Amino acid sequence: MKFDIHSLGDALGAEIIGLDLSAPLTDSVFADIHQAHLDYQVLVFRDQSLNPQDQIDFSRRFGHLDQHPANDAVLPDFPDVLVLSTKRENGAYIGLPDAGPLWHSDLAYRKQTALGTTLYALEIPESGGDTRFANMYNAYDALPKALKDAVDEKRGTFLAGRNNASRAFKRTLNQAQQDAVPAVTHPIIRTHPETGRKSIFASEQHTIRIEGMSEAESAKILAAIFAHAALPEFTYTHKWRVGDLTFWDNRCVQHIADLSRIDDPAYIRHMHRTTVEGDAPF
Ligand code: SIN
Repeated sequence: MKFDIHSLGDALGAEIIGLDLSAPLTDSVFADIHQAHLDYQVLVFRDQSLNPQDQIDFSRRFGHLDQHPANDAVLPDFPDVLVLSTKRENGAYIGLPDAGPLWHSDLAYRKQTALGTTLYALEIPESGGDTRFANMYNAYDALPKALKDAVDEKRGTFLAGRNNASRAFKRTLNQAQQDAVPAVTHPIIRTHPETGRKSIFASEQHTIRIEGMSEAESAKILAAIFAHAALPEFTYTHKWRVGDLTFWDNRCVQHIADLSRIDDPAYIRHMHRTTVEGDAPF
């Protein structure tokens, strides 16, 4: 092993120390990172100093990069980099201030959902703005049998949160951006294409109903699944430091951002995100 790995707790997550992601990775280091990503689901690379191209180059080792439907919130000249920021220019947000107000897996609203997301911290507030991650393998394993049976083999309708009028976002998509991401269906429980393990894929931000059930039954079961998936024993809370790059596996992890201070003008949280495309869940 060419770097140190420290577990971040019982649920998921590991800190990677002693690796400079701005330098090209050898195949052997890449293989170790890949394995750590599968083993720990969330990796935190500390003390990085990355320009946008460095972040893109690292992300592309894992696959093709998605371009977010909010195509006016990407970094100028780097359409693969989504800006997550509470900063404003002329009164308007320069990026998305609120990418993850509810538990979700990235790109769950696309047919090809996300393999992984990198999020790089450029400016971090003194308090607030944590990201919580939840291990959906463990959540699935601990799902009560009645709920498992209710959703086994079931598919759900998934919709971009910013497309869903019942969700409150600070910055919404315009009509053309919404039209680019119509609703799709996915299994409520998915199987990881690399580990073969099952996990909960339905999420509060994107899953609006379970197919083949009445509206009322679907709402009741989804509410029970969402409450279960967010139980503290499945979670790790990341307190950001400038220079952290996190890289999580959206095929078995859900996440949510703490937005409690978003309306405080003194609160600045500024990050760059890339999203690696994965496959259609099965
Ligand atoms: C996201 O949901 O992609 C971003 C999470 C965060 O802002 O912490």
